[in-house]
Formats: sequence, C-alpha cells, structure tokens
Amino acid sequence: MCGIVGYLGQRDCTEVLMDGLEKLEYRGYDSAGIAVFEGRDIKTVKTRGKLTAMKEKLEREGRPQGHCGIGHTRWATHGEPSDANSHPHSNGRVTIVHNGIIENYAELKQFLTEQGYTFLSQTDSEVVACLLDYYYSERNPLHAITETLKELRGSYALGIIFKDFPERVYAARCGSPLIVGVGQGESFIASDIPAFLKYTKDYVLLEDNEIVRLDTEGVMFFDVHGIQISKERRIAEWDVEQAQKCGYPHYMLKEIHEQPGVVQKTLDSLTKDGIPDFTDIGLTDDMLRGFNKVFITACGTAMYAGIVAKYAIEKLARVPVAVEIASEFRYMDPIVGENDLVIVVSQSGETADTKAALELAKERGAKTLAVVNVKYSAIARLADICINTLAGLEIAVASTKAYSVQIASLYLLAFRFAYAREAIDADELKRLTAQLAKTPEVIQNIIDRCDECQFIASQLVNTETLFFIGRGFDYALSLEGSLKLKEISYIHSEAYAAGELKHGTISLIEQNIPVITIATQSHIIEKTISNMEEVKARGAFVIAICRKGTTFADGTVDLKLELDFGELNDMLVPLPTVCALQLIAYYSSILRGNDPDKPRNLAKSVTTE
Ligand code: G6P
Repeated sequence: MCGIVGYLGQRDCTEVLMDGLEKLEYRGYDSAGIAVFEGRDIKTVKTRGKLTAMKEKLEREGRPQGHCGIGHTRWATHGEPSDANSHPHSNGRVTIVHNGIIENYAELKQFLTEQGYTFLSQTDSEVVACLLDYYYSERNPLHAITETLKELRGSYALGIIFKDFPERVYAARCGSPLIVGVGQGESFIASDIPAFLKYTKDYVLLEDNEIVRLDTEGVMFFDVHGIQISKERRIAEWDVEQAQKCGYPHYMLKEIHEQPGVVQKTLDSLTKDGIPDFTDIGLTDDMLRGFNKVFITACGTAMYAGIVAKYAIEKLARVPVAVEIASEFRYMDPIVGENDLVIVVSQSGETADTKAALELAKERGAKTLAVVNVKYSAIARLADICINTLAGLEIAVASTKAYSVQIASLYLLAFRFAYAREAIDADELKRLTAQLAKTPEVIQNIIDRCDECQFIASQLVNTETLFFIGRGFDYALSLEGSLKLKEISYIHSEAYAAGELKHGTISLIEQNIPVITIATQSHIIEKTISNMEEVKARGAFVIAICRKGTTFADGTVDLKLELDFGELNDMLVPLPTVCALQLIAYYSSILRGNDPDKPRNLAKSVTTE
C-alpha cells in the first residue's frame, strides 16, 4: 500500500532513495517518485509505472544531486496511476509523500480551495501538502505539522520536507507503518526496515500520533502536541542477504526454497523437550482449557492458513473454531467475548483489516493471540499474546514461506490445545510433535521436484480457467493453491470442496478444463476419487496431487504428481504439499510472461481498508 522513504546524510540521496524504493516496491508499483534538495531548491522526478520507468526517467532528465530528500512507490487508491497522481506532491513551501488514505480529503479540499489553493492531482494526499502550507508560518514546521495532524482523518505515514529547511526531513504516522533508521551521521525514514537495512540496523518504531525530525544533529521525536519525547532504539535481526535474491531469478523462488530452514527454525523456537511450549509467550494450559470457542481472523493467504488451523484444532482439541475474513469480522458484530480466543494471523503484522479485527476482539474482552512474522509490528504489539514466526523477510508479493511457518506454528498450537484439554495424552503430544519435526525434510524432497511442477505448469499455460478441488485438509489447501495460482498467473481459478462441485460448479466443467485435485487424505480419498470421476466424465483435464502409491482407475487422471510424505500423518501433509502448489503457480506465472514478484494490482502489505 505505497512505500515511503526519506534520507538525510552524506550519501548520494537519489541513490539511497531509489535503493530504498526498490526494497519497498512490494508495497505498490503503479508509480514512483523522489524529491531531493539541490542546494535550496527541491528537484522532483516522478512517473507512472514501475521503478524501472523511474530509473529511465532519471537517466533522461538527470539525477537530482543532493543529500536530503523523500521518495514514494505507489499503490493507487484515489486517482488513476499517472504522472500527476504520483508522489511526491508539492504545494507552496511543502513537499510530501504519503502512505494511507485521508478519509476527509474532500471536505479539506473544499476548504483549501476556498483559501485559494489549486490542486494538480486527483489524490487524497495532495490536501496534506496544502494543509501543511496553510498552517506553516514563522518558519515553524513542527507547528504546521501538529496543526495539520489535528485535521486529518484516516490513516497516514507521511514524509515531509519544507523548502526553507534543506537539511531536514519530518515524518508522522497514524495507522500506517513508519520506521526511523539511525546511522552514523545519517538517518532514514521508511515504511519498512529493508529500505535502509543496507546502511544501518539501528531503528526506532514511530507510533501513531508521533512525529520525527531528521536533521544534521540527529533524530528527534515529538508527540502530537509537539512536545519532545524519547524513544527506544532497536536492532534489526534481519540481514542484508535476506533482502537480496541471492542468485535466484525471483524473490518468490528464493522464498519457496527457504521453507525447510524457516519451518525448522520456527518449530524449534516453539518447542521444548520435544513438545510445544508457549509458556514463554504467556500462553498456559490453564488458559487453553478455559476457552469456549476460537475465532481465527486474517486476510488472504494468512486467512487460508487459518482454515488449515481450524481443521487441526477442531480435530484434535474438539473446540469450535470459526474462521472469518478480517474485513468481515470487523463489521459483522461478531458474537465474541470473554472466554473466547481470537487468533489473528498476519505476515506483515500491519494489515489494516486484521488490525481492526484484533482491536474489536480486544474491545469485546476476548483473549487475543497474534501469529505474526514481523516482530514489533502493530499487530504483534497490540495482541495479548504473540507467536513470532521466523520466516525472515518475505519480499515477493505472493506469500509462500510465511504461510508455511504460520501453519507450522498453528499445528503446534493445535497439539498443545488438545493436550491442555486432555483430548490427547503426553505420548500422543510427543508423537505428533516429532512428526511435525520431520516436515522440513519432506518439504525439501518436494521442492527438489520442481521440474515436475514446471511440467504441470506448462499444461496450464494456455487455459483461461481452472479449478482446484479437495476434501478436508485438502480443501483447505486447495484454497491457498488456487489463490497463489490466480494472483500471479492471472488464470481464473476457483477452489471448491470436492463434494460441493455437483451443487453448481460442475456446470462450468467443459472439455479440457483443468481440475487440480488434491487427494492426500486417506479416510476420504475414495470420495474424492468419485468427484474426480465426475469431472473426468464431463471432459475435464484431471491433475491429481496425491500421496506416493495412490492408485486411480484407468482414465481417471491425465497427470499425476505423487508426493512422498514418508510416514507423515495426513493432517500434516498440507505443509509440504503447499510447496508443490507454490511451484506450479510460480512456473505458470513465468511461462505466461508475468513477473511473479510483482503481480498486477496487488500489494504485499495492505495498510488501508
Ligand atoms: C495482501 C497480500 C497477501 C497477504 C495478505 C495478508 O493481500 O497480497 O499475500 O496474504 O495481504 O497480509 P498479511 O501481512 O496480513 O499476512
């Protein structure tokens, strides 16, 4: 949802900003721009399109030469992607970049128009530049910012420069992330740490309604009234390598390959003496015993991880679990209260709807547990209890390794839940945990079969529509497989519970429509095979993804990917199987000439509603 950066120091500002924007491009890539002080003048270069278009423009028009500036990569909300709607926006003595949505921009625009301001773009953001200019007097930027913030409704992370102060960058936030990087004689602002990781690992998290000033003296923080405050410094645990492709053609492929390692790391961090242990994060067996029901709420891939968790928790712990899309949960007046557990799942820990769902759950008195990949993110800090998954930095827009560590940690939670509620005994708890500990190896075996996944992808490349079907855990996984494929290949894809097909969707099955059937669950495999027969009888091109050794009647299956799960319990096979689905999606995207790391219209981190 837009990425912002800002820099003050001795380096070539254009280079630092462009570098940072490249690391933030996952947040949006409709357009980009930078504004840099050249002496006392501000030079702005911006353009529609991805950063490559911006680089070309800089080549053509010349790179701004300076040491202080701000930059932006956009995911359009108000106003189409165009040069004029690209950030930075300038008005009067102020230039800004903005991530978020100013909800009352129409009324502010009317007011400012009456004051004689003219607008050059259709964005909501431009009103911020005008309002700052309106309140700017007596060379007092801080006053202009505090007055402006009082007027804004919605969400924002702002980077601001004032023409009168060529060696200062200001930033403020409310609802959208903003991190301050503190280096030796230089400082940074950014929507996310990777933007400055190359230069410094020291950072400070700006909270809602706080303001920061970067100048030659260092960084200074203020509250919304302009009173100086002190802030805790942290050290980033990620390293520069994580923000690089390391020889892989795409981040997505790199991240798929990282899965055995990150799953292992996450499992190790949540187990002690061979069993799941959440006492360090404050989740006790007593608490787990006391919950009446569980909600899991999240968006996108994280929500689909929640569906796998629902099946596992209900199966093992016999406690009802409802999975709700966060954007629905927050407005549906859910029947949730004390004695309920609300689990929110989020890679970024910043997704606006997930955060709002969490806030609602807290308001209603439920216990809240976040499963989050970014330490100290808004959701991680807001939840009562937090499981930090250890996928490391995930850059590709389509989530892969984050999903795997989410389900790995949620399996452990399901095991402990069941044990606490005496649905399984200590031996079973150990046995299940030991089984899960084998998944990294199984995942590796599956990733090593990327040639076969590539072949399956080659069979899908000319289709415009396809279906995923499965039952139980296979259905939960079908949802994620289908999402992954459609978001990066742009092939229309739908996931169906295999038994539900005949209640409508089967009418869409025609000659050669691919139906990818996930058939790993032994106790219902015959039922799934019947559904495969049904679609085959109607001309579908049936691709089966199944356990090694699964047999089908002649002519049922056109293509088969047999996966060796070893002795793995059926319940756990979604974890390795998803890797095959990710690879099929990845190669489908490549074969159709797309950029899998930056699918059209999508952003990795959605910090607006
Ligand atoms: C966006 C991304 C998805 C992601 C979802 C939730 O839509 O494109 O890949 O699953 O947000 O993000 P989160 O950071 O909360 O897991």
